Amino acid sequence: MKFSRIGNKFSSNIGIVELMNELGKALSENKDMIMMGGGNPSHIPEVQKYLRQSMQSLLDSDREFETMLGDYDGPKGNLRFRKALAKLLNDSYDWGINENNIALTSGSQSAFFSLFNIFGGSDENGKVKKILFPLTPEYIGYGDSSIEDDVFTSRKAKIEHIDQHTFKYHVDFDALDIDDSIAAICVSRPTNPTGNVITDDEIIQLEEIARKNDIPLIIDNAYGAPFPGIIFTDIESRWNDSLIMCLSLSKLGMPGTRTGIVIANEKVISTLASMNSVMSLAPGSFGAELALDLVESQNIIKLSQEVIQPYYYEKARRAIKLLHQHLKEDISWHIHKAEGAMFLWLWFENLPITSQELYERLKDKNVLVVSGHHFFPGLDEKDWPHQHECIRMTYSSESTQVEAGIKIIADEINALYS
Ligand SMILES: Cc1ncc(COP(=O)(O)O)c(C=O)c1O
Repeated sequence: MKFSRIGNKFSSNIGIVELMNELGKALSENKDMIMMGGGNPSHIPEVQKYLRQSMQSLLDSDREFETMLGDYDGPKGNLRFRKALAKLLNDSYDWGINENNIALTSGSQSAFFSLFNIFGGSDENGKVKKILFPLTPEYIGYGDSSIEDDVFTSRKAKIEHIDQHTFKYHVDFDALDIDDSIAAICVSRPTNPTGNVITDDEIIQLEEIARKNDIPLIIDNAYGAPFPGIIFTDIESRWNDSLIMCLSLSKLGMPGTRTGIVIANEKVISTLASMNSVMSLAPGSFGAELALDLVESQNIIKLSQEVIQPYYYEKARRAIKLLHQHLKEDISWHIHKAEGAMFLWLWFENLPITSQELYERLKDKNVLVVSGHHFFPGLDEKDWPHQHECIRMTYSSESTQVEAGIKIIADEINALYS
C-alpha cells in the first residue's frame, strides 16, 4: 500500500501525536505516575453540576434531545447557539457581530488546521505563504497543522526579568520583519505552554502590522475571556474584520464534545463552513446544545469569572508558593509570570542537562512534565539554548499530587545545580 506525500507526512512522526502517545504510554505503564504533563481541564464539581443539569433538561425536553441527535446542523454549526453567542459578545464587548461572523468546528484544534490551510501554503503563483508565530514558545498543536511543508515560521521571545525568579516573554518587534511571504500571524493568548498573556499594547501593534500587510491576526483564546476565563490579568477583548478570534468549550470542562468557535469576517467564516462541509458535513451539535442555556442566559460569564477563574488562580498561586519553598534560592530558576491557562513554565538557566533529559529523569521518579523544546514550532534558530532549559508543568491535578510532584522536581533541580 503506497501513501501520498501527505499520507506519508501523517504516518510519520508528528510532534503532538508523539507527545500525546508518550504521555499516554508513561501513564498506562505506571499507575503511580504524577501527571503534570497534560492539558486536560480539571473536573470542577460546580461546573460539572451545571453541565449535568443542562443534560438533564435536554433529556426532559419534548424535542430538543431528539433534534440534537437526529438532525444535522448547518455547516457553520448550531444557529441558535451562534445567535446567542453573537449577542453575548456584543453585550460584553460591543463587537458588532452577528451569527454569520461565527462558525463552530470540531474542537478549536480543527479550526487551526482549517485556518492555517486557508491562508498558508502555495498561492496561485506557486509561492509558499507562511503562518507567522511572532513569539515562541508557542502551542505545540500548531506545528503539524499544515498540508504543505515549511508553512510555519516563528520568532524567539524577548525576555523581561520581573524579579529574581519571575520573568515574562514579549514580542520582539525589532525582529518582526514581515514581507509578502507571510499570510497570517497567530498567537495563543493566554499562551500554552507559558501562561503568558501578550499585552494589549503588543496586540495593537500586531494588529497594525497585520492590517498594513492585509493579512489576518489569529488570536487563540482557548483559555481566555469571556469563557473559560482562565486569565489572571485585565485585558481588552478586541475584534475587528481583520482579526480572527478562536474560542473553545474544552477548557470550560467540555473537551469531550469537541466544540471550537471561530469569530471572523463573513468571507473567512463561509470558507471555514465549506471546509466543515467537506470534512464532516457539519460540526457536531452536542456541545452547542449542552452549552446553549449557559450562553443564552449569559451565565457562562458568571461561571467563568466566579468559579473557573478563581479555581485555577488559586491552584497557580499555590504551585508557585511551593516552588519558592522547595527550590534553592541561589539557583537561577525562573517561573514565567502566571497570567493564565493551566500551566507553569519553568526556566532553569544554564541547566547542566537538556530539558528532555530532565524530563526522562523526572519520569523515572514518577513525575510527568513536558520538555520545553516541543514548544518552538517553526523556529529556525535551533541553537537557542533557552529551548532546552525549560519545562511545562500542569497544576490542574489534585493538590496533593501537585505538591508531591513539585517536591520531586525541586529535589532533582537542587541536586543538578549543587
Ligand atoms: C492554546 C490551545 N489552543 C487550542 C487547543 C485545542 O483545544 P480544543 O481542540 O480542545 O478546542 C488547545 C488544547 O490544549 C490549546 O492549549
